[in-house]
Amino acid sequence: MELLKELSLFNATSGREAKLSDFIKNIVKDYADEVYSDSLGNLIAHKKGSGKKIMLSAHMDEIGVVVTYIEDSGYLRFADVGGLYTKYLAGRRVVFESGTEGVIFTEPKNDKNALSKMYIDIGATSKEDAEKCVNVGDMGAFCGNFTEQNGVIIGKALDDRVGCLALIETLKRVKSENDLYFVFTVQEEVGLRGARTAAFAINPDFALAVDVTDSGDTPKCDKVAVKLGLGAAIKVMDYSVICDKEVKDTLILLAEKKNIKYQLEVMTEGGTDAGVIHFSRGGVKTGGVSIPTRYIHSPSEMINKDDLTAVIDLITAFCEN
Ligand code: CO
Ligand code: ZN
Repeated sequence: MELLKELSLFNATSGREAKLSDFIKNIVKDYADEVYSDSLGNLIAHKKGSGKKIMLSAHMDEIGVVVTYIEDSGYLRFADVGGLYTKYLAGRRVVFESGTEGVIFTEPKNDKNALSKMYIDIGATSKEDAEKCVNVGDMGAFCGNFTEQNGVIIGKALDDRVGCLALIETLKRVKSENDLYFVFTVQEEVGLRGARTAAFAINPDFALAVDVTDSGDTPKCDKVAVKLGLGAAIKVMDYSVICDKEVKDTLILLAEKKNIKYQLEVMTEGGTDAGVIHFSRGGVKTGGVSIPTRYIHSPSEMINKDDLTAVIDLITAFCEN
């Protein structure tokens, strides 16, 4: 899990994926026939073949903050990049593009707080002081943390670095005549933007989005069928896509044939890259394979290691089918 740790600790908010893209490019170049980036910043590793054209996508970007205003006192006001839950934020640390770290806080302390009442403290005592480290428009990501214990992994940005890892591992081991495109997309968190241009340019026959999905196994959560430890989640639908029935049924069949633990996923809110890939051009037969995850979009997302293995096995089987 050393590679997942490195991926998780990377700071790459939406639109700021370039360094992470370089890092992934360095790994995948040995396993693909060609690796290139498009104008938006999507990284595409192509493993050529004469069979079906399949696109796998996992997004590189993570949620974060952007500086909107610097107070005379040196405190920063900010907005979210992607969906942040305000109640997770007070006391959290973020790190900006310059490497400067800051503490998010809110006043009054027990306020059920709106983002507009929150600020970031970087220890500056004046606006001039603050402007030496950050500027309006600079983005910050949650400070890194990574723990492996009890069969689970806890970390930030597992949404969707686990998906990136799954694509990398699949590319390393897959043996197939199919024409495979492993796409590490940008700007998923702000509206599935990168996957749009990538799907248009590649024009695949089939596509799979590999991302995290919510789990229904915490004390007072809504009734959700997906649970940690029950295997790869085969997406039936979410708010952005109704998965192609042929793709969904093929995934189920492959899982049963190869003894891969799986569960079925229906998400009533949220979406993934599949949401825009499936209506690219004249339409793409699209499905999704998800990693069940607790505390999505918090700085401490949690996944089960066996589920991740099942996801890699399943998407490898799909590529080889
Ligand atoms: Co997300
Ligand atoms: Zn995601």
